[in-house]
Amino acid sequence: MMIMILKICFLLLVINYGTCAKPNILLIIVDDLKPVLGCFGDINAYTPNIDRLADKSFVFKNVFAQQALCAPSRNSLLTSRRPDSLHLYDFDSYWRSTVGNFTTIPQYFKENGYHTYSIGKVFHPGKSSNFTDDYPFSWSKPTFHPKTEQFMNSPVCVDIDGSLVKNLICPVIVESQPGNTLPDIESLNEAVNFLEQRRNSTEPYFLAVGFHKPHVPFKFPNEYLEYHPIENVSLPTNIDRPSSLPLVAWNPWTDIRLRHDIQALNLSFPFGPMPGHMTRKIIQAYNAATTYVDDLIGKLLNHVDSNTIVVLTADHGWSRGEHGEFSKFSNYDEATKVPLIIHIPGLSTGEVISDALVELVDLFPTLVDLTQVAEALPLCPKHGNRLACTEGRSLAPYMAYKKWERWLV
Ligand SMILES: *[C@@H]1O[C@H](CO)[C@@H](O)[C@H](O)[C@H]1NC(C)=O
Ligand SMILES: *[C@@H]1O[C@H](CO)[C@@H](O)[C@H](O)[C@H]1NC(C)=O
Ligand SMILES: *[C@@H]1O[C@H](CO)[C@@H](O)[C@H](O)[C@H]1NC(C)=O
Ligand SMILES: *[C@@H]1O[C@H](CO)[C@@H](O)[C@H](O)[C@H]1NC(C)=O
Ligand SMILES: *[C@@H]1O[C@H](CO)[C@@H](O)[C@H](O)[C@H]1NC(C)=O
Repeated sequence: MMIMILKICFLLLVINYGTCAKPNILLIIVDDLKPVLGCFGDINAYTPNIDRLADKSFVFKNVFAQQALCAPSRNSLLTSRRPDSLHLYDFDSYWRSTVGNFTTIPQYFKENGYHTYSIGKVFHPGKSSNFTDDYPFSWSKPTFHPKTEQFMNSPVCVDIDGSLVKNLICPVIVESQPGNTLPDIESLNEAVNFLEQRRNSTEPYFLAVGFHKPHVPFKFPNEYLEYHPIENVSLPTNIDRPSSLPLVAWNPWTDIRLRHDIQALNLSFPFGPMPGHMTRKIIQAYNAATTYVDDLIGKLLNHVDSNTIVVLTADHGWSRGEHGEFSKFSNYDEATKVPLIIHIPGLSTGEVISDALVELVDLFPTLVDLTQVAEALPLCPKHGNRLACTEGRSLAPYMAYKKWERWLV
């Protein structure tokens, strides 16, 4: 009966917006997460919580980030404009002061009656979001960053001889870490507090939670290794650097070469290659870090009420040895492909899989359609300076089609 009411409510929303209470929105962005998840068919993944969310969601399996680098991808996703329009391919400019005062997804919802809040890494912090994560434009209150994020690159990994080093692969005992915690645990706690505080509010919220793992270094509570025995890790089949690859297309993974455990391997620059046993350990650690974040996501979802649209995605992927790469930065699928899971209350009652070609710029118009906070977001004109518009296309018709199908059954 409840589901029936929600469905009718949703139908009214679609036909004639403004009839029912607006749904809340929870946007989960996982840093550098490629779709190596159980629900995406990865047999080495252990992601029961994300899989459970997928069981009652629309799961898009052919989704691409606009660029395989954090700041340009996030700014693109959040403004629904391509890096070419934002003129941002790195970390060094803020669109509002360089190209145009473009409206972001959270800003749009804030201006349409939502309370908006950012926890962890949503915008890339720093110059590309004006050192404020675009507060106050995008957010109702200043954003939350975990205090222990300052130890991201500190020597906190225990080496074989017991010394503390900066390793790429860094399973830890949480209680022995600075502050006795880890950044994503802090973000989870903040998000749970937020959800509990909003529980009786009639004002809908837009909460964005950005988890830092499995971004390098692979620092995670060591118990998550248990789910990923090294003998079960297989190497990618396309492990060689293509011989005809132009040098300009090669990324020599300088960021991971700086880590002590990688330095110790004396790899040749710029091509490596990485020894197979280390590639296995890297994949294992990435999978364990993903299981850790999956666990936090499960805890977060326990506090989300039923009138909430949940979106889970990532800023881009990460090559784990494919084509000889250990990085994002490239245009290979391994670096550009991301998961996208959209749960719609009352509508997503089972898993619906789509192979449609989707881009992260599609998210903004999709959320506008799903919530009906206003009429459909227009396409950005070729010329002129429209502030709230999209360079993507809404995925709602696709989901609505599925909805009618189910509704008529
Ligand atoms: C960026 O932040 C600075 C300092 O907080 C502020 O003065 C400036 O107006 C902001 N830029 C824009 C375009 O809002
Ligand atoms: C940009 O847009 C915001 C929100 O509408 C507004 O408050 C701000 O004054 C604008 N900034 C400029 C430089 O026009
Ligand atoms: C929400 O309402 C319930 C039931 O009335 C109450 O017990 C609880 O304290 C309220 N929570 C908040 C955060 O106001
Ligand atoms: C590892 O692989 C073995 C053999 O395929 C399988 O039985 C076992 O369940 C796997 N372990 C994990 C934790 O996935
Ligand atoms: C790396 O080079 C150092 C210094 O030349 C040497 O002591 C060490 O054994 C080498 N390690 C490996 C794994 O080859």
